[in-house]
Amino acid sequence: MAARGGLRAPSVGVGGTGAGLERGERGPGARPERSSHADEIGVVYGGRRGPVRALDEDTDFEGSDEVRDPANAKALRKKRRRVQLGVKLGKLHLLTLLLEQHLQICVVGSGPAGFYTAQHLLKHHPQAHVDIYEKQLVPFGLVRFGVAPDHPEVKNVINTFTQTARSARCAFRGNVVVGRDVAVPELRAAYHAVVLSYGAEDHRALEIPGEELPGVFSARAFVGWYNGLPENRELAPDLSCDTAVILGQGNVALDVARILLTPPEHLEKTDITEAALGVLRQSRVKTVWIVGRRGPLQVAFTIKELREMIQLPGTRPILDPADFLGLQDRIKEVPRPRKRLTELLLRTATEKPGTEDAARQAPASRAWGLRFFRSPQQVLPSPDGRRAAGIRLAVTRLEGVGEAARAVPTGDTEDLPCGLVLSSVGYKSRPIDPSVPFDPKLGVIPNMEGRVVDVPGLYCSGWVKRGPTGVIATTMTDSFLTGQMLLQDLKAGLLPPGPRPGYAAIEALLSSRGVRPVSFSDWEKLDAEEVSRGKGAGKPREKLLDPQEMLGLLGR
Ligand SMILES: Cc1cc2nc3c(=O)[nH]c(=O)nc-3n(C[C@H](O)[C@H](O)[C@H](O)COP(=O)(O)OP(=O)(O)OC[C@H]3O[C@@H](n4cnc5c(N)ncnc54)[C@H](O)[C@@H]3O)c2cc1C
Ligand SMILES: NC(=O)c1ccc[n+]([C@@H]2O[C@H](COP(=O)([O-])OP(=O)(O)OC[C@H]3O[C@@H](n4cnc5c(N)ncnc54)[C@H](OP(=O)(O)O)[C@@H]3O)[C@@H](O)[C@H]2O)c1
Repeated sequence: MAARGGLRAPSVGVGGTGAGLERGERGPGARPERSSHADEIGVVYGGRRGPVRALDEDTDFEGSDEVRDPANAKALRKKRRRVQLGVKLGKLHLLTLLLEQHLQICVVGSGPAGFYTAQHLLKHHPQAHVDIYEKQLVPFGLVRFGVAPDHPEVKNVINTFTQTARSARCAFRGNVVVGRDVAVPELRAAYHAVVLSYGAEDHRALEIPGEELPGVFSARAFVGWYNGLPENRELAPDLSCDTAVILGQGNVALDVARILLTPPEHLEKTDITEAALGVLRQSRVKTVWIVGRRGPLQVAFTIKELREMIQLPGTRPILDPADFLGLQDRIKEVPRPRKRLTELLLRTATEKPGTEDAARQAPASRAWGLRFFRSPQQVLPSPDGRRAAGIRLAVTRLEGVGEAARAVPTGDTEDLPCGLVLSSVGYKSRPIDPSVPFDPKLGVIPNMEGRVVDVPGLYCSGWVKRGPTGVIATTMTDSFLTGQMLLQDLKAGLLPPGPRPGYAAIEALLSSRGVRPVSFSDWEKLDAEEVSRGKGAGKPREKLLDPQEMLGLLGR
């Protein structure tokens, strides 16, 4: 693979951990810091300073025999001046080349994966220019449309993403659906490398009869609804029933349960949409069952989220002590986070609540409970067949132990009456373009540490790379790793040499297709509008839900 004349990666950040390197720090084995142009050139040539070194100002003339001979002295002084001039011109030339040779990178998706990948590339390659394409009019992916409104501290990552987006070497291109408005091969032709960071936009189906009945929603749609995802703004779930069932025992299930049960006045100062708050104020849901096909040792939620549930005002937990029999002995063997989580479950199920908890729970009018060893088998219809009225659960037992234990049906079933079924069994990525390999079983783009298998110059990061699990911090680490792999490939000469047009080529294509991207400063206008609309109600923002209205506000 040709490297000569092509783009080269700086040595900074490559070979180190990337994520751990701060400005000015270098990976293991790198040369000490210098601050001149020579340093920049050295960096760009990956530390191979041969040609530049031969013309360096440090070249030793004074000690040579030629200099000691007076007849040669004048000619040598001239030669030295010529060489020094050559050095200066050489450096200037190299610098000019570098400035011309931007590394053009395209990132698809502006969630944590897209932004962290961009951040890594911009930080570790001084000539990188990153365009982030996003299908929505607004950035930040699940940080805006997934993270619960009562977890505002999690959304602080937006400040870091905003800094990245404001970099002169980064551009946000919203309102562009990759795979529809522009094809991946077109992006690959315009950029040196393309990173797919488009997340997991779908939900995993239950694949059981009755799943399509009114009253059954994916947790993904429900979360999108309360968080103002435009495609879910019409969801209007009917919360006039007494009991809701959530299938799945992950953190999304707990988010949904918490939002259903939190007294609405506690959500009023969050960025939940006013429409969702209106529906929640009218809610008659009193009991929420969170159903898992395996046991207490296999729940997928984490301790912080469980604690929030236990402490939720106006609610009490319902845990069956029988589910926890014999667990006390087994938790000694499990890893510490799982041990602490199970101990909390065990205490809640088997011990009398402390004074504070008891005082909070006594007047509680709402309850939530965990049901274990139950796998969804069928959504039961109401007598008129027009909506969900319950769920049939297959009773299960475990085969195997620990995290890897499998739920197998015992043959028994249990019917649980409910008017609302929320399926929270995981998100799912979709294939984006026929030219991009996709593993439909795992729901990921096949890759080796972020390098898309068999497609040079194509990379992936985030949920579409590793599947739809992991918090923002996990996504950050994996996105930095993808960035690192890309820069390693660049250094090895595996990316196309010569300049690439980048956005100039794509802009022309989009314009010919009637697509008008929005910029980051457009988002900042929408952001200001949202913040101003929220002010009156004491909310951090009132999210804009209608893309047409948003475009109108941008004068389109
Ligand atoms: C409900 C929920 C709550 C969560 N809460 C937390 C939490 O409190 N704390 C925490 O640490 N983690 C939380 N997470 C996990 C966290 O959100 C993920 O780790 C992270 O968002 C994954 O990042 P991503 O960039 O891969 O995907 P996403 O955040 O989904 O970003 C993908 C982006 O790609 C865009 N896109 C999709 N298709 C296209 C296309 N064809 N063209 C252009 N753009 C496209 C999408 O619009 C989106 O903006 C939560 C997850 C969920 C589902
Ligand atoms: N506050 C936070 O930090 C926060 C909030 C929300 C989400 N997140 C993160 O986002 C990621 C996604 O969360 P998630 O809750 O969607 O996924 P998850 O953690 O993978 O949980 C999915 C749940 O669905 C169950 N399940 C899967 N397939 C099933 C089936 N066919 N039938 C019955 N049950 C099934 C799983 O059970 P099995 O284990 O038996 O498969 C598991 O209990 C997680 O990493 C999560 O931590 C974090």
